[in-house]
Amino acid sequence: MDKHGLNRRQFSARCAALGVSLPVSSAMLALEAAAQVPGTGEAPKPRVRTVKFPDGTSVPAIGQGSWHLGQGKRPRRIEEEAMRTGIALGMTVIDTSENYGHDGESELSVGRAIEGLRDRVFLVTKVEPEHTSGDGIARACRASLARLRTDYLDLYLLHAPVAASRLSGVVAKFESLRAAGKIRSWGVSNFTVDQMEALFRVPDGHRCATNQVLYNLKRAEMEQDLLPWCEQHNMPVMAYSPLGGANSSLVRDPKLAEIGSKFGHSAAAVALAWVIRSGKVIAIPESGSPAHVKENAAVLAI
Ligand SMILES: NC(=O)c1ccc[n+]([C@@H]2O[C@H](COP(=O)([O-])OP(=O)(O)OC[C@H]3O[C@@H](n4cnc5c(N)ncnc54)[C@H](OP(=O)(O)O)[C@@H]3O)[C@@H](O)[C@H]2O)c1
Repeated sequence: MDKHGLNRRQFSARCAALGVSLPVSSAMLALEAAAQVPGTGEAPKPRVRTVKFPDGTSVPAIGQGSWHLGQGKRPRRIEEEAMRTGIALGMTVIDTSENYGHDGESELSVGRAIEGLRDRVFLVTKVEPEHTSGDGIARACRASLARLRTDYLDLYLLHAPVAASRLSGVVAKFESLRAAGKIRSWGVSNFTVDQMEALFRVPDGHRCATNQVLYNLKRAEMEQDLLPWCEQHNMPVMAYSPLGGANSSLVRDPKLAEIGSKFGHSAAAVALAWVIRSGKVIAIPESGSPAHVKENAAVLAI
């Protein structure tokens, strides 16, 4: 399996060490069983749900958001333990942004949580549109790298659209960061189909790796146009607020809970499984709770 996931033995060992609950460990056992290739001597086939980027990089279909981390909802230690638990269980795509929390607190939390685990993580952060003029993107990237305690990003996103006339300048800045090894890929967030079309018209615009957008059971309008457009262009989508956002009712939805109970999973797990069902979407649920993170990680094996 690629470096952002776990092999079978590591996965089982981590599950045992982390004391995962019965539904989660059932999913992990199913994963383990499905990975056997009896009598063939072949390497086990990974069955964790993955999504491929246009450059061939595969990542697990469930990652972890971090918007509200480091803002006092829970002790910092617990939140960082939750993120490390998620990484240990295979949720290795970590999403943050320069503007989450005061003074980059989310990036600082992520930097602490992934210490010693950098080579296992697919790290994503974002630059704000107001930081895109002059050498703003390079400066913002340097500051994010310092807060994240790393020397490269796996994916750097433009957090929200800029005017079409400014797209070529932004793409050129992303491409020079890529050439310098500071970022491995770049993408956008909150772009409509028209804005994606405009992006693809500028030089190197087609190198965009993803569009991160709002997508969940209650907000599925992107299925009308953006999702098919991205599929046609061989581009995965990253779904933010996949549980409906903070204070979402999806995690308490009785119908989802009923469906989940038949399979030993939570309502949240059902909502996440729905979001990633096409194999073209990476969901990035956020949780500062180790118990919730374990529920969410089970979706990788459903
Ligand atoms: N690009 C953008 O413009 C954009 C916009 C919004 C968000 N994002 C990214 O997407 C990430 C996720 O989105 P989001 O934070 O808006 O919403 P979300 O992931 O849909 O929902 C987060 C909420 O769900 C709860 N939760 C998580 N797992 C749970 C479980 N198993 N059972 C019960 N509750 C659970 C969390 O509380 P607990 O902590 O108590 O578990 C938290 O309150 C953000 O952190 C951010 O990285 C990007």
